Amino acid sequence: MDGNGRWGVRRGIGRSAGHCAGVDAIRRIVEAAIRQGIGTLTLYGFSSDNWGRPAAEVGAIMALIRHYVGSEADRLAAAGVRLTVIGRRDRLPAGLAAAIGAAEAATAAGTRLHLRIAVDYSAREAILAAARRAGSDCSREDFSALVIGERDVPVVDLVIRAGGEKRLSDFLLWESAYAELYFTDRLWPDFEAEDLAEALTEFRSRHRRFGLVPAHAAAA
Ligand code: IPE
Ligand code: MG
Repeated sequence: MDGNGRWGVRRGIGRSAGHCAGVDAIRRIVEAAIRQGIGTLTLYGFSSDNWGRPAAEVGAIMALIRHYVGSEADRLAAAGVRLTVIGRRDRLPAGLAAAIGAAEAATAAGTRLHLRIAVDYSAREAILAAARRAGSDCSREDFSALVIGERDVPVVDLVIRAGGEKRLSDFLLWESAYAELYFTDRLWPDFEAEDLAEALTEFRSRHRRFGLVPAHAAAA
C-alpha cells in the first residue's frame, strides 16, 4: 500500500488524510480479493523503518490501524475473513496491540480469505529472528516456518506495489523468492478492484519456471 501520503498532499488535505483514504481502499480490495478467490492477502501497513517518520504521522497511522481492526473485525468475521497481523507487537501502543489480539480472536474461524496486515514489520528482522532460533541442522522447510511464524501461510505468488516505486522495501523477502512482481503507478487510495483484476490477469500470463527450463517447469 504505497502512495497514501502523496495522494493526500496532491489534494491539499495532508498526508494523514491520505492514510485515511488508504483504509477505504483496504475495505474495497479485501472485498475484491474475496470475489477473486484469493487465499491469502498480505498488506504492508507500516514498516519498521516507518517509525522514523514525523511523530504526528506515525500517531495518525497507529490510530487508523487501531480503528480499522477495532471497527472491522465483526464484518471480516461475517465475511469469512481471518485477520492476522505480522510484525513486532511490543513497540505498538498498548491499545493497538490489544485491539489486534481481539480482532485476531474474533476472526480466527475465517476460511474464505486470510488477510494479513504487516505492522512494525521488517522482513530482514523476521529472517534474523528465525536464524537465531534455528539450529545448524534446521531444514529449509523448518526454517521457512520459523520465518513465516504462523500457520497455513503459503509462499508469495504475486507482489503488487502501488505508488510507482519499484522496490520491495523489506517486505516478505524470504517468502517472495519466486514471486512475480507487479508495479503500478496508481496511488494506493486510488487502487480499485479493476486494478487488482488487471494485476491478476498479468500474473496469469506470466510463465513461472522456478529455475527450470520450460518443458520441465510445465511438468513440475
Ligand atoms: C503508504 O503510503 C503507507 C505507509 C507507508 C504507512 P506512504 O505514506 O508511503 O505514501 P507516500 O509514498 O509518501 O506517498
Ligand atoms: Mg511511500
